[in-house]
Amino acid sequence: MIKLENISVAFEVRGAPSASVKAVDQVSLHIRRGEVFGIVGTSGAGKSTVLRTINLLERPSTGRVIVDGEDITDLTGNALRRERHKIGMIFQHFNLMHNRTVFDNAAFALRVAGKSEAEIAQRVPEILTLVGLADKAQAYPSQLSGGQKQRVGIARAVANHPAVLLCDEPTSALDLDTSAAILELLKEINQTLGITIVLISHEMNVIKKICDRVAVMARGKVVEQGTAFDIFARPQADFTRQLVAHTLNLDIPEHLIDNIPGTVLKLHFLGDKAEDSVLSAAAVRFGLSVDILHGKIEYIGNHAMGLLVVRLAELPADAVPPALAAGYTGTVAARVAAAVEFIRDNATHVEVLHAH
Ligand SMILES: Nc1ncnc2c1ncn2[C@@H]1O[C@H](COP(=O)(O)OP(=O)(O)OP(=O)(O)O)[C@@H](O)[C@H]1O
Ligand SMILES: [Mg+2]
Repeated sequence: MIKLENISVAFEVRGAPSASVKAVDQVSLHIRRGEVFGIVGTSGAGKSTVLRTINLLERPSTGRVIVDGEDITDLTGNALRRERHKIGMIFQHFNLMHNRTVFDNAAFALRVAGKSEAEIAQRVPEILTLVGLADKAQAYPSQLSGGQKQRVGIARAVANHPAVLLCDEPTSALDLDTSAAILELLKEINQTLGITIVLISHEMNVIKKICDRVAVMARGKVVEQGTAFDIFARPQADFTRQLVAHTLNLDIPEHLIDNIPGTVLKLHFLGDKAEDSVLSAAAVRFGLSVDILHGKIEYIGNHAMGLLVVRLAELPADAVPPALAAGYTGTVAARVAAAVEFIRDNATHVEVLHAH
């Protein structure tokens, strides 16, 4: 539905007209109709600049912006205004008009689009109901909480029945609970109204909650893109790995692991692969103890992603019945090595954290 093809945006450096900063460097993205598409990255990565090229608030220096098969890169005047009516936008700091009521704020885009007062009188209550503010029409922004202000922002953005909603850090100024409620509202709008959403965040937790697919940006470039689940489960770029590790906090402190005798493995299990039965099979087959040191399950959308940190070690002698013990040949080290191979063959992703 939205295609960005080789988009670059350069900004002139103030006082040095010949120099320029490449805020966005050869970015190509394809955002599909009906999805929630996330853009993550550190501050200054170029996320907002990319987002603003979609409605041409920022003109790309090179590259094309294609919406619904139509190349809109060079549109101006009325043609550009018509295109922008199809695209709503919400912001981190809400950008409301402080001296206007909630009603007038919500009506803003309708007035710009030249709707009649009768149409406005009908549409505004509808959208205020949609965002849960039907009783606040006559309030002023200063009388609202942050979450309510963002709801007004959302009402204003969807008033004209846009096909796309651009969201630039929509929850960064909100506390955790309010942020979760706003994300839920956005998801509802996406699902019930079929509006395609492009959402920027520097928080992977936000992405994890509502995005179908994600692009990761660093220094003006897209370093990685894929489904939200793939980005979390199998991050490729170093930068993404760090982001994901930081968010999921799946690691246990190194000094703890270093002081554990035995061989310590980290296993990721994705979806419904049953790693725990692989572990008990390994324990029995190779005569080892398998102790779980740490475990965690995360949900990305509807998919589960788990982590187990386990220790393989020799069983205490009295734990093995003599009849069984005879079946375990080889040194402990050899049996641990064979068990690691066995687990590797049967689990999604196995990492040896250390071997003693
Ligand atoms: N209007 C502008 N003039 C000059 N430089 C700009 C302008 N807008 C952005 N930049 C520069 O372009 C780069 C990318 O900025 P952008 O705002 O797109 O990053 P971002 O990823 O949205 O960051 P943040 O997470 O802090 O919002 C930065 O180096 C920024 O300083
Ligand atoms: Mg930004």
